[in-house]
Amino acid sequence: MKRVLSGIQPSGNLTLGNYIGAMKNFVKLQHDHECYFMVVDLHAITVPQEPAALREQTEAVAALFIAAGIDPSKASVFLQSHVPAHAELGWIMTTLVYMGELERMTQFKDKASGKESVGAGLFTYPALMAADILLYNADLVPVGDDQKQHLEITRDLAQRFNSRFGDHFVVPEPYIPKVGARIMSLDDASKKMSKSNPNPGSSIALLDEPDVIRKKISRAVTDSGREVKYDPANKPEVSNLMTIYSHCADISIADIEARYEGQGYGPFKKDLAEAVVGALEPLQQRYKDIRASGELTRILRQGAEQAGEIANRTVREAKQKMGFVLP
Ligand code: TYM
Repeated sequence: MKRVLSGIQPSGNLTLGNYIGAMKNFVKLQHDHECYFMVVDLHAITVPQEPAALREQTEAVAALFIAAGIDPSKASVFLQSHVPAHAELGWIMTTLVYMGELERMTQFKDKASGKESVGAGLFTYPALMAADILLYNADLVPVGDDQKQHLEITRDLAQRFNSRFGDHFVVPEPYIPKVGARIMSLDDASKKMSKSNPNPGSSIALLDEPDVIRKKISRAVTDSGREVKYDPANKPEVSNLMTIYSHCADISIADIEARYEGQGYGPFKKDLAEAVVGALEPLQQRYKDIRASGELTRILRQGAEQAGEIANRTVREAKQKMGFVLP
């Protein structure tokens, strides 16, 4: 069975972008792959986090994994910091990656731009991410489009290690959705929808109340035309809303075009809002149930045990190959 690993940062409220770009594929892949899904809390602290918020968001993301449909009896769900091998192999990867490679990362450039001081961890972030993936010898990594560059570095580091120290790591492949790999902001279709955008109107959070979702969609920016047509180059706002609709209502883009022909944006946006509310309602109910049940601690403990077994073995063998004296 092929192995799958992915992670999400607990650095804000998860959005529809995270769901469509990544989590939907986590749920799909768990049925016929050996899956590891984690909350990457060590990555979240590459930008300052308030301790109480970090704790709450970490538990919220873990609960959202389950609420979205990940079955902990099929996939291991865990926190990155519960498996110390991530930090250990992360350090090893930091010694293998080149400064020039890190300097080219657009995520670093975006996050560092305009900041007076930037933590070194934000710069070396991709080395830790490579470790996350290589520890499990993952074949596939389900992610959105914005993580492609990090996957490239991971592949390069796997190959670099293998050629220097002998075959050890599987070279992973990204698994990116054909439609929905990059959901854009509701207020600016040139920017991706992001959980760290301070304007709440720019994104739909998975835990937004139905009326908040309706309001955000009715205020979403569109062009001044009235044709519901998928044309990302000329109509990026409407095309983005159509992508969201297609995922939430499970209908094709062509069917959406046919359904709203000649009707303008009003009816389209109204139905879109109900499609999003309908898609998120069961998830929100499950989320409440899981948080109230107190089950999360047990699920995360079990996930970390399963993940730790594989990760510890991989890091041990990597150290042996590199010439470390093992205890
Ligand atoms: P993060 O936490 O920013 O996002 C989690 C996942 O959601 C995807 N995503 C999107 N997809 C479509 N449209 C959007 N607007 C959108 N916004 C986010 C991301 O591509 C990602 O798949 N570096 C990673 C976390 C990470 C990781 C890993 C991922 C750490 N280690 C190992 C995979 C494997 C990140 O910052 O994701």
